[in-house]
Amino acid sequence: MDYKNKIIYQIWPRSFQDSNHDGIGDLKGILRRLDHLQDLGVDLIWLSPVYCSPNTDYGYDISDYYNIHPDFGTMADFDALLTECKKRGMGIVMDLVANHTSDQHPWFQACLNDPNSPYRDCYYFREDINDKEPNNWISMFGGSAWTKDPLKPRSWYLTTFTPHQCDLNWENPRVREEIANVMRFWLDKGVSGFRMDVINTIAKQPGLPSWHPEKKGYQFAKEFMTNLPQSHAYIQELIGKLSNDYDFITIGEGMMADNDACALYAGEQRGELNMMIMFDLHLQDCGPLGKYDFRKLYHWTIPGFKSIIFRWQTDSQKRNYWVANYMNNHDQPRSISRFGNDRQYRVESAKAFALMNLTLRGTPLVYQGEEIGMTNCHLEQDEWRDYEAINIYGTLQTMMHLPKFIAKKVVQRMTRDHARTPVQWDDSDYAGFSDHQPWIKVNPNYKQINLKSDLVSETSINRWYKQAIALRKTYSAFNTGAMKPVLVHHKQILAYQRSDEQAEFLILINLSGSPAHFDLKTEGRILMDSYTDPQPRLLRPYEARLIQIR
Ligand code: GLC
Ligand code: CA
Repeated sequence: MDYKNKIIYQIWPRSFQDSNHDGIGDLKGILRRLDHLQDLGVDLIWLSPVYCSPNTDYGYDISDYYNIHPDFGTMADFDALLTECKKRGMGIVMDLVANHTSDQHPWFQACLNDPNSPYRDCYYFREDINDKEPNNWISMFGGSAWTKDPLKPRSWYLTTFTPHQCDLNWENPRVREEIANVMRFWLDKGVSGFRMDVINTIAKQPGLPSWHPEKKGYQFAKEFMTNLPQSHAYIQELIGKLSNDYDFITIGEGMMADNDACALYAGEQRGELNMMIMFDLHLQDCGPLGKYDFRKLYHWTIPGFKSIIFRWQTDSQKRNYWVANYMNNHDQPRSISRFGNDRQYRVESAKAFALMNLTLRGTPLVYQGEEIGMTNCHLEQDEWRDYEAINIYGTLQTMMHLPKFIAKKVVQRMTRDHARTPVQWDDSDYAGFSDHQPWIKVNPNYKQINLKSDLVSETSINRWYKQAIALRKTYSAFNTGAMKPVLVHHKQILAYQRSDEQAEFLILINLSGSPAHFDLKTEGRILMDSYTDPQPRLLRPYEARLIQIR
């Protein structure tokens, strides 16, 4: 399947559209909104997990890979959704969480019911040392990566995310075969592929040694849990098992995977994955431990932003691997609030990031709500829903010694809940998402910011997306064409050319809130500009321009 020319739209189902008056988004709700996606030009819908799950990590803790969570509907609803997608020329990409299962999964339950269960070797059960965890690894969501085994004294199991997400032991062939079975099951139904959750952490350092044992406290054992050589062997084996029988696409999510790692996971000739989700842009304002590492005070610069984009673009071109670009997803605050200006220049910054995302080399992922310029939402502590946010709030105080009010500020800035407030469809109660109090707060700005009013606005963001998507589909230069950075040292403007035999384009984006002058011969036809009166050699705040040179 051609994965380079696809427009992929991510749905986080819990907050997309409710259909049965319980305040929780569901599959029938998605079905109701398919016309909107088709109209936009979407090819594939990536569904964040809809499987059975106790929801400690909202679906990323799967208890049954073969069934639909009742909150979302039934398997019949899923089949109907898939059929309706296909009628519209669209497909569905499933989110496959293969690094861990929920502790409610039958395999893990078997481990808890029987100390000799063969399934114990499907996970990482280990004995402790002197009543301390088997090693010093920190969990991605804060605290120890180990959870106490209720069945045996001195025994623990590895949980590198929440304590309810138990890491699978991929050394065990049973695990590898079961993941292949899950994929076969969904491929037989007719799905188009998988977004593979934290796929670069499936192999762990043999022996699970402590990371710098001389250091005090839990340590981020990045090199012992990400990008191990064995992970490539596992992926090649898995894809090899399926690729003769099925035609499908794979999007790998690699937690903090760098260029070298992605060149392997998504290298054209490697027999691994089609593309890797790029992280660097979204961690540029964070310390080395990730999103809640506040030590950079969330400071970033335009030259830094540009150098990340250009490094990924030119390196993936040179080494022939493929990237999935995105400005938003369910794990990040809204990008226009973070890297743009969500007040004075909300529409302009939404359009700037959209044009960038839709014209870069790589497959664009569009996240629900960005096509209408949704923003972050102020959330008081009792409105937080995300496990990560709630847990890290404690860790910031105990491990990082932050006073409460600063810990709260850090969480309020970075919480994933920003991306998870309900999609704002119209200005009716609960933004047209539901007629019942939603499971999470609706952003109070829904009266102004919603699809219905965007569609009739002269400066519609949705229309801008449609236009850019249509152009991307018309000209192959945007997907397989060459990428060449220009104005590399400009302090405000991100600029590059995309070209192939058929056509050549220049993209100019002012990433700043002040006017930006540039000195460049820009002959050609302006196909898109976010201001109505484009000026030569000048871009107004967040102005985005697409010029066809040839
Ligand atoms: C990925 C998901 C995130 C989840 C984590 C653990 O990073 O995108 O939402 O919490 O994996 O499964
Ligand atoms: Ca519902």
